[in-house]
Amino acid sequence: MSSNQSFNHFLRERGADWDVRSLLYHIARSVKYINFSIRAGNTGGAVTQNASGESQIAMDILADQIISKELEKSEIAKVIASEEQEESIEFPSHRGNYFVAYDPLDGSSLVDANLAIGTIFGIWESPDMIGHKAGDGMVAACYAVYGPRITLTIALKDKGCHEFELNDVGEFILTRADITIKDDTTYFAPGNLKVCGENPKYRACMERWLDRQSKLRYSGGMVPDLHHILSKGHGIFTYPSDTKQPQGKLRLLFEGAPFAFVFNEAKGVGKTQEGNDILDTIVTDYHQNTTVFVGSKNEVKAVTDMLA
Ligand code: AHG
Ligand code: MN
Ligand code: MN
Repeated sequence: MSSNQSFNHFLRERGADWDVRSLLYHIARSVKYINFSIRAGNTGGAVTQNASGESQIAMDILADQIISKELEKSEIAKVIASEEQEESIEFPSHRGNYFVAYDPLDGSSLVDANLAIGTIFGIWESPDMIGHKAGDGMVAACYAVYGPRITLTIALKDKGCHEFELNDVGEFILTRADITIKDDTTYFAPGNLKVCGENPKYRACMERWLDRQSKLRYSGGMVPDLHHILSKGHGIFTYPSDTKQPQGKLRLLFEGAPFAFVFNEAKGVGKTQEGNDILDTIVTDYHQNTTVFVGSKNEVKAVTDMLA
């Protein structure tokens, strides 16, 4: 579908309230600045470690700063939490009462290889997450893909999932409204494949995909891998646990919950390895990990059943 509808206009027509649109306006600005920085070549190698002990490149830090500044300007986000910052940040003077969690740059290890990367955001209505289910009070989630084109995909509670593309005058224009995914699929994106060496059940999942002649679509970047599923209208992405990472590698608030929310809005699912809804996981720590099984309903069920 093509149109000239700006994202703000579209979201207003869909009944998104002013505060959420305002937050998304600042998020979209941060995505544009991050895109400029990537194009400007701010892509240096590993320089330091983040709160989870993972390598950080200069772009991770710059993207984090761009987003935190924009969210501060919004005056609507009361508390923000970033994958790249150990502690959450509070803005007590802000009139809004929202919590925003974000992964400033997803796939930073792919930057030097010039593969697609992304940014992920989750938005909650209440600033107090600890002790609550990850999906409680969640009102929106979105992610940007920095590839040959720059897209921003936004899901709003009970208002669907929609894709916008950055045009040459810096506006995000609607490219796909009401993205939905089918229950069955012939695509698979198997993260953490080394688990096949320690978990015969995951190896059996892999063999099932091969036997069914499913198509492998895996880039190593969660954002483009999941965007592929939404673009084609079916698929599965898996990231199981292993002995070193018994809760998985991906982060609940920065990666798992935003995508589970997006996929729910697109009529897909986001489950843990145990087959529970990711959004039902109780938040105990902003940096907690989760296993991730997202995509077409029947396929996610088949795979999580096999791993049970
Ligand atoms: P980040 O760059 O934010 O640390 O996240 C990278 C993630 C995700 O994009 C991808 O699915 C996963 O890491 C791949 O990890 P491994 O290649 O280490 O299994
Ligand atoms: Mn990430
Ligand atoms: Mn990241």
